[in-house]
Amino acid sequence: MTDGATTGGSAPANAHAGATASVSLPTGVDWITDPSDPRLADYVSLTDVALRRRTEPERGLYVAESEKVIRRALAAGHRPRSFLMAARWLTDLADVVTQAREDGIPVYAGDHDVIETLTGFHLHRGALAAMQRPVLPPVGELLAGARRVLVLEDIVDHTNVGACFRSAAALGVDAVLVTPRCADPLYRRSVRVSMGTVFQVPWTRIEPWPRGGAEALREHGFTVAAFALTDEAVTLDALAADPPERLALVLGTEGDGLTRHTIAAADLSVRIPMSGGVDSLNVAAACAVALWALRPGGSVPGSAATV
Ligand SMILES: C[S@@+](CC[C@H](N)C(=O)[O-])C[C@H]1O[C@@H](n2cnc3c(N)ncnc32)[C@H](O)[C@@H]1O
Repeated sequence: MTDGATTGGSAPANAHAGATASVSLPTGVDWITDPSDPRLADYVSLTDVALRRRTEPERGLYVAESEKVIRRALAAGHRPRSFLMAARWLTDLADVVTQAREDGIPVYAGDHDVIETLTGFHLHRGALAAMQRPVLPPVGELLAGARRVLVLEDIVDHTNVGACFRSAAALGVDAVLVTPRCADPLYRRSVRVSMGTVFQVPWTRIEPWPRGGAEALREHGFTVAAFALTDEAVTLDALAADPPERLALVLGTEGDGLTRHTIAAADLSVRIPMSGGVDSLNVAAACAVALWALRPGGSVPGSAATV
């Protein structure tokens, strides 16, 4: 324990916003008063995207934010390294805290100001967990038995990655493959926007890409469809009229779209017809439209309504 930290005793009177009495700490919970406590290194500067993008995968961790996301990550079998939360979440997450204590996982609690100084943002969702990054499965394992696969090529924006995963989960995608330079699906903004579906949809990195990756998809019986605004592209309606049994939908980066190498490596290009002088759709919007139109067998597996 560092100076000024208490364990399993009681937190200071102002530990809980608006509280007047002291908050009693469950046994094994450390009360944090020093934002530079080295035990909290996993949580430092969470708003620094460039820093986190580099250090999180390197150190084999990601950060889950909010009670719901933490519970989803745990339900998916991911292993926590530690928890950090404001006092009231010790009650809401009491079962998680108890389990952590049994498993010897550190639980830290602290005043909002201390946590805010440490992480760099206002902790309105109150609870964080530093999680071990799961080992990603081999591509072949995900393709076996799959009918719809989504490939995200070099998407930059974590919000778009999260939104694509959310659509993938809802619209019958069996696996998501992200290219080597695609933004991290486990970055906290991706996780949040995905509503935790990054823990639900099987995914992995596909490397190399496109050469090698497109061949691997074909070897597993997939038709590779590049979503691109080329003159040769067929319309989404034409493809949806008779879609292949196994289809990989490849979507490109926000600025430039798919590379010409990817378009050349694909079996066909597909465009979603647009009007109104709009030159392209947001990638996550294109993703949702395409997945819906090309849902396997004309229905979304597991949904109540089928066509
Ligand atoms: C913002 S767009 C990139 C636009 C880029 N200037 C281009 O020409 O592809 C990002 C991705 O969304 C998909 N996309 C957006 N609008 C589309 C459309 N109308 N038809 C097919 N794909 C589309 C493509 O995969 C594209 O690479």
